[in-house]
Amino acid sequence: MRTIKIFDTTLRDGEQAPSCSMHLNEKIEIALALERLRVDVIEAGFAIASQGDFESIQKICEVVKNSTICSLARAVPKDIDAAYESLRKAKSARIHTFLATSPIHMQYKLKMTPEKVLETIDAMVRYAKKYLPDVEYSAEDAMRSDKEFLARALETAIAAGATTVNVPDTVGYATPMEMVEMLNYLQNNVRGIENVTLSVHCHDDLGLAVANSLAALSAGAGQIECTINGLGERAGNAALEEIVMGIHTRKNYYNCKTNIDSTQIYPSSRLVYNLLGLPAPINKAIVGANAFSHEAGIHQHGVLANRETYEIMTPQSIGLLENKMVFGKHSGRHAIEQRLTELGYALSKEDIDKLFERFKKLTDKKKIINDHDLEALANRSVVGASGAFTLDRFTVNCGNYVTSSAIIRLKHEDKLLEEVAIGDGPIDAAYNAIDKLMPAPEHILEDYTIFSVTEGNDALGEVIVKIRCGDKSVIGRGLSTDIIEASIIAYVNGLNRLL
Ligand code: KIV
Ligand code: ZN
Repeated sequence: MRTIKIFDTTLRDGEQAPSCSMHLNEKIEIALALERLRVDVIEAGFAIASQGDFESIQKICEVVKNSTICSLARAVPKDIDAAYESLRKAKSARIHTFLATSPIHMQYKLKMTPEKVLETIDAMVRYAKKYLPDVEYSAEDAMRSDKEFLARALETAIAAGATTVNVPDTVGYATPMEMVEMLNYLQNNVRGIENVTLSVHCHDDLGLAVANSLAALSAGAGQIECTINGLGERAGNAALEEIVMGIHTRKNYYNCKTNIDSTQIYPSSRLVYNLLGLPAPINKAIVGANAFSHEAGIHQHGVLANRETYEIMTPQSIGLLENKMVFGKHSGRHAIEQRLTELGYALSKEDIDKLFERFKKLTDKKKIINDHDLEALANRSVVGASGAFTLDRFTVNCGNYVTSSAIIRLKHEDKLLEEVAIGDGPIDAAYNAIDKLMPAPEHILEDYTIFSVTEGNDALGEVIVKIRCGDKSVIGRGLSTDIIEASIIAYVNGLNRLL
């Protein structure tokens, strides 16, 4: 049985998804979750893209010990230099360089002749090889490339020392049959391909990323590139959880396995949705809320008689805890800490202290606290929110026949600052008052989302705001049983990040 390498690119391609940029702490938390999943390779970022990307790759190299850390680079020396520099502290490191091979990319984007592309692949793979033994070459837009030319490109990369060659379906154009034909062709026509890892990287523009990846695996691919929850450019990448559970559930069909600890799938998925402030689609395969629930009577009857009538995998196999636990006023710190560990959170002592304080305050307002509440409290952008400004108190006045007004008092370096403003509704009024108080650069409120963390009148409300400043956008998050308070905290939190 072949072992398929799982290459996760949540921190690079996933981060390229609209509104999915992450901060250092969030990236580290995700990298540690990927290590717990036992991902073979973590693509930690694109070192040359920004100082932030560079530093987060460096930091991830310091904390992750059991997965190979990979840094992306265009096929130019300065990118490869930066990729290598960012990886210096990694226990196991890979440089991943890419150059497109499709006619449209070569002519319009690269403005290079095919011969020049081959020369550059040869030169840049050799350049990367001087730094590290583990080098991956990706033929960007491979699936719209001429297959004979693609074969020459991969052969050139292998001759120059690439140890992994990747066939990306960059624009999500391919079909499963075409993947199979392409991989068969390459395996029969590229000299040396049997000595390296053949990889695929599929995008989901036509909803076929997972199907294409699994088809490629049947045709001999040894590495699949994917992301948690299928995040990624445009419609996203192949979803790690779907690929892995596909392979695990149909092991005998694919005759393959992975090194992934599937019980870490659910916690990792929740963590990524939570950190990015994205709601999990309820019907998402594997990790959606409905994935293991049976509504129709006939299904319920079958499942009660024998789970396998309608269930092809168990909730436990993805780490979905069935023994739902509830907490309240009398719950101790240790029990909370233990449950968070079971839910996949690895919080520091300091974070647990802060979380427990918030937990105690919450028990004054909400009698029963469940896993979803704990996860909301554990979110680092809430727990770790230690901005320069904090909410001290607020008053709002609103109604359908008065102009809404808000008085906001914020604490800043032991000083209390107060402002009043009017607005179109209580939240607009509060945000106008906060804008007067916080010296943030010019910005616009791009998005405002509110949802309830659990059911019931006393549910926690979670507000996520996206604030744009030039070409940068930040997320602010607020949590409270009072939705006006949650809205204010989210905005202050977002502006703190901007500052
Ligand atoms: O989609 C793509 O082609 C990529 C490459 C950089 C591998 O993300
Ligand atoms: Zn991609």
